Amino acid sequence: MYGRNVWVMQCTEELKHEHQAVLKALAILEKVGRALEEGQTGTLDDAGRVMEFLTVFVDRCHHGKEENILFPALVQAGVPGEGGPVGVMLTEHDEGRRYIRDMKDALTALTGGRREKAASFVAAARNYAELLREHIEKEDNVLYPLADHLLPLGTDEEMAREFQRIENEKVGAGKHEEFHRMLHELDELYR
Ligand SMILES: [Fe+2]
Ligand SMILES: [Fe+2]
Repeated sequence: MYGRNVWVMQCTEELKHEHQAVLKALAILEKVGRALEEGQTGTLDDAGRVMEFLTVFVDRCHHGKEENILFPALVQAGVPGEGGPVGVMLTEHDEGRRYIRDMKDALTALTGGRREKAASFVAAARNYAELLREHIEKEDNVLYPLADHLLPLGTDEEMAREFQRIENEKVGAGKHEEFHRMLHELDELYR
């Protein structure tokens, strides 16, 4: 019934590679949060850039590839859509979206001069970072290996095409590299 793959799919490799960028963004997010709490000028702009990365690169694109392509493929291969590992991942994506909303609300208030909102931003950022780090660990060590093992032979190429389509639709051609550059820049700024 299942393909018994012993290799690693290109698609899960791509997602794992994106996780490295996400982890870097989480470290930057926490540093930006600390700087905001200390009232450092110019940090609001940087916080906005990190939020754009989290919204577009992480949520729309990376989670988009998982939710629209990888998870449905797993369900089709027999993994339960609800209650099982896929259901847990979906719930965590939603939880992450709530923290992103909280961070954005706090930033809007901060931009309006309510400096006490830095603490709300930091709290949401910490929760988000903790959630995503654990989420990534589960995907890298459980869900993706399951996909490598279960997905039918020949799915890889088709999924790679679908990933590319999502990237073009949700992020825009060339923008993916721009995001990596932005992350590198922020990483240098917040050493
Ligand atoms: Fe995920
Ligand atoms: Fe992921």
